[in-house]
Amino acid sequence: MKRLFAAVAAATVLFANAQGFPGSKPITIVVPFAAGGPTDLVARQLAETMRKTMGGGANFLVENAVGAGGTIGATKVARAAPDGHTLLLFHIGMAATPALYKKIAYKPLEDFEFLGMINEVPMTLVGKPQLPANTYRDFENYIKTNAGKLNIAHAGLGSASHLCSLMWQSAVKANEAMTTIPYGGTGPAMQALVGGQVDLMCDQTTNTVQQIQAGRVKAFAVTTAKPLSKHPLLKDYPTLQEMGLKGFELTVWHGMYAPKGTPPAVLKQLNEAMKLALKDPDFIKKQDALGAIVVTDARVDPAAHKAFVAAEIAKLKPLIEAAKQFAD
Ligand code: MLT
Repeated sequence: MKRLFAAVAAATVLFANAQGFPGSKPITIVVPFAAGGPTDLVARQLAETMRKTMGGGANFLVENAVGAGGTIGATKVARAAPDGHTLLLFHIGMAATPALYKKIAYKPLEDFEFLGMINEVPMTLVGKPQLPANTYRDFENYIKTNAGKLNIAHAGLGSASHLCSLMWQSAVKANEAMTTIPYGGTGPAMQALVGGQVDLMCDQTTNTVQQIQAGRVKAFAVTTAKPLSKHPLLKDYPTLQEMGLKGFELTVWHGMYAPKGTPPAVLKQLNEAMKLALKDPDFIKKQDALGAIVVTDARVDPAAHKAFVAAEIAKLKPLIEAAKQFAD
């Protein structure tokens, strides 16, 4: 009964917030990466769930505005009408691209309204199935004996897979052993890995778990500080720190943003709908299966998320600058 009251109260808050929003016009979530990749997957699962948490009347569309490490899609949303009908779902690239690109067309902390964080996603270092190595140690030896012959795929300059490949190559000083191959998203990059056209990739678990499970790629390590001991599949892989890469830690996160100037009542309504969606058992279950950790209310908070992104920008800048000396 208590739960029923809570649900009714939450729904009342939603309807009390912004009269007439969203109306019959759809809410477009712009994904700045290719369809079929990890960001797209989060957006589609969230859109489906928010449709429910906004009372069923809201219509959501997912639009893939691909290119330049997510900055094309982010620019599009920064310039969109601030009416709540165009939102951006971006990841750690929101904080990494200012250091990875000489110039971007928007200021991450000034040109958006922050709606809140969605999830955290570990990354995995994965190789094509034909690689002879089966463990991270075998793999380290393999890189040494194949210097200059290997290539590593990523989803384009500024993507999370690019950031991870940059940081990992710099940590193992492996740049001379590898050629970097950029794709338009990790969806197509993963296809190239599975097909054996590229040797390696460091990618989000949302994109790798099913491939590892099916034996279509080999996993060597995870990028989190602590082992993923609760995940039935990922618990079997060591962290890069355990493999001797001191201090290595990279976790992708996703957040949602609206153009600057979106009315506060609309933002509140969207934020409340997001909070409810992130508690949806089905959404949590789907994310969990892919190794993603859905955040709790305190982080689905505009001010907390903005402070977090500011801290990430400050943290990543020196790391990226140092890594760029060893890899591209
Ligand atoms: C994607 O959705 O393609 C990825 O999130 C790209 C990436 O590695 O950042």
